[in-house]
Amino acid sequence: MNVRRHSASAIFMHWYNAVCWLLLLFSGFALLANPLMQPVGEWWSSLWTGLFGPLGLLRLHVVIGMAWVVMYAVYLVFRIRSEALPFLREITDLHPVSDMIWCMRKGMWLVLGEKLMRRLGLDPELPPQGFYNAGQKLVAVIAVLCSLGLALTGLLLVFVSGRPGTEELLRICLLVHFCCAGLMALFLPVHIYMAAFAPGEAPALRSMFTGFVPLEHVRHHNPLWFRKLMENGSTKNG
Ligand code: HEM
Repeated sequence: MNVRRHSASAIFMHWYNAVCWLLLLFSGFALLANPLMQPVGEWWSSLWTGLFGPLGLLRLHVVIGMAWVVMYAVYLVFRIRSEALPFLREITDLHPVSDMIWCMRKGMWLVLGEKLMRRLGLDPELPPQGFYNAGQKLVAVIAVLCSLGLALTGLLLVFVSGRPGTEELLRICLLVHFCCAGLMALFLPVHIYMAAFAPGEAPALRSMFTGFVPLEHVRHHNPLWFRKLMENGSTKNG
């Protein structure tokens, strides 16, 4: 038996978001002219500027950024109550102690494996999780905050740029824009590894295409959500 985990619109927005983010991150890195700030290497900037030219690259970055902001604004207009607010409620349902234990044990489990953990006297049992596990909540909260930071500073950089007396504001915007992008550049590989490659996560990855996840996977990975589903009797065949 399967249970619905993601709606069609949430799936569309996730993949639209993923493509925009990756393109923005790649083109954004290429825009860093200062070699000291270039995390990939000068060859990366040369590659992109060679393809689009310096002005063309900036235009490409702005066009993708605007397409991302506009699509999100449309999504929020239509889905704020039914999807965006429940999503925010889930990811901010934090339990600091149990969430921290989950992150530490899951990290050790991935690096050492269950057998070695037991041999070393470390408890591999994970605290029971709800709809999202502690790691997903952490990355999602950071993604939401960084998205707001990037969108706001990006819009200011596009629309305020060139106006007299805004130099200081634009410098601050650029700094915040870099910091948010840098933070996401650190956390996105973790998210992509945990979602697409980590052992045992294949059903969750499939759910980001089909919308459904096996009830058995929920029982094992999200026992608190499983309990709610059982109480509400709200399982569906996929
Ligand atoms: C391209 C590689 C990516 C892959 C393979 C991937 C995979 C996934 C999967 C499988 C889930 C569902 C996890 C579950 O149901 O338990 C998920 C959720 C999520 N991902 Fe990604 N993702 C990618 C890129 C991104 C990017 C670039 C972002 C941008 C910040 C992102 C943000 C999120 C968020 C916020 C969620 C929770 C959304 C929800 O459940 O509706 N992902 N991802």
